[in-house]
Amino acid sequence: MKTYSIALIPGDGIGRDVTAAAWAVLEMVAKQGGFCLAGTEFPWSCRFLKETGRMMPEDGIETLRGFDAILLGAVGWPAEVPDSVSLHGLLLPIRKAFVQYANIRPHRLLPGVTGPLRAGSFDILCIRENTEGEYSGAGGRVHQGTLDEVAVETSIFTRAGVERILRFGFEQARSRQGKLASVTKSNAQKYSMVFWDEITRKLAAEYPDVAVTSYHVDALAARMIMAPESLDVVVASNLFGDILTDIGAAIQGGLGYAASANINPDRSAPSMFEPVHGSAPDIAHLGIANPIATIWSGAMMLDHLGEKDGAVRIMKAVEATTARGIGTTAGKDKTDAITAAVVAALS
Ligand code: NAD
Ligand code: IPM
Ligand code: MN
Repeated sequence: MKTYSIALIPGDGIGRDVTAAAWAVLEMVAKQGGFCLAGTEFPWSCRFLKETGRMMPEDGIETLRGFDAILLGAVGWPAEVPDSVSLHGLLLPIRKAFVQYANIRPHRLLPGVTGPLRAGSFDILCIRENTEGEYSGAGGRVHQGTLDEVAVETSIFTRAGVERILRFGFEQARSRQGKLASVTKSNAQKYSMVFWDEITRKLAAEYPDVAVTSYHVDALAARMIMAPESLDVVVASNLFGDILTDIGAAIQGGLGYAASANINPDRSAPSMFEPVHGSAPDIAHLGIANPIATIWSGAMMLDHLGEKDGAVRIMKAVEATTARGIGTTAGKDKTDAITAAVVAALS
């Protein structure tokens, strides 16, 4: 039987609930589909940091390297561990070490979920650069604590990094509606973003079948709310993509619906699948986290692994569940009830 090894990192807060939910759905799909998902759970989290002094062991990356894929819940418990420590100790190094440069985040309405726009439909695929840009980690602080203090955070954009993410976007656009929105802020940022616009124009010549529009990120943010149906594939830098995909989640009805895949397109290392949302400390332990974003991310994982039929069956079950009104009103349905409904809808 075909077996896939999956590293499970539930992480903090609701991360534990939503990964358990997605795993229950995945196990059922595997059973029905005649393949095996061999999960290995890693307790790496803010709690692990308190016990061991690290968010993951020193050889954590090497441990993960042998897996076919990683399913992650959420990282962060800011009341006890600064986010700059927890995220730089676990989530961000995985994205970078495994060159998961394409962070794919689909935004569309599930049946029965109205969302705040209350009209129309949309199908946006946000592709976020995931390894460099504003998240390069270059910078520092001098004269700390004095009136002369200066903090510098340098964005690093490389030709290789920008080209590969835009090329990825063009290829995706080609397989969808053939439209690509390239997002910058080149009216204010005259080096990196002008560079990005130039590379967009260069690649556009290679993809004459794709209609490309360059947008400033502020205008694109407004467009996602005012005219989301006009968008198809959106490609943005690390930070802009982060912010735009929370808008994407919002117009989908909330963070509980937004899935994401951190893809290593060369398949030289495992890819990682996780919801867009975080550990939601405000609702942790209440059992009301919406697991749909993580279940959907699990479907993206199966699709990446080549189990296309399993991925489709998960999405059909999710859609059948929300169409019945289950999981469509924040907090009304418990995590376990939504999960049970999705599992029951699998066929
Ligand atoms: P958050 O996404 O955790 O929560 C924002 C709001 O959305 C909260 O009101 C929360 O209750 C709600 N929400 C989130 N997921 C939900 C779900 N599945 N169902 C229902 N409601 C949901 O963002 P935050 O509060 O800014 O961050 C909390 C912690 O998570 C921080 O430590 C942050 O750094 C971290 N974080 C981690 C990731 C990640 O691991 N990928 C992503 C975002 C934030
Ligand atoms: C996300 C998160 C992370 C990011 C944080 C927690 C570092 O917001 O995955 O969207 O900014 O990439
Ligand atoms: Mn985010």
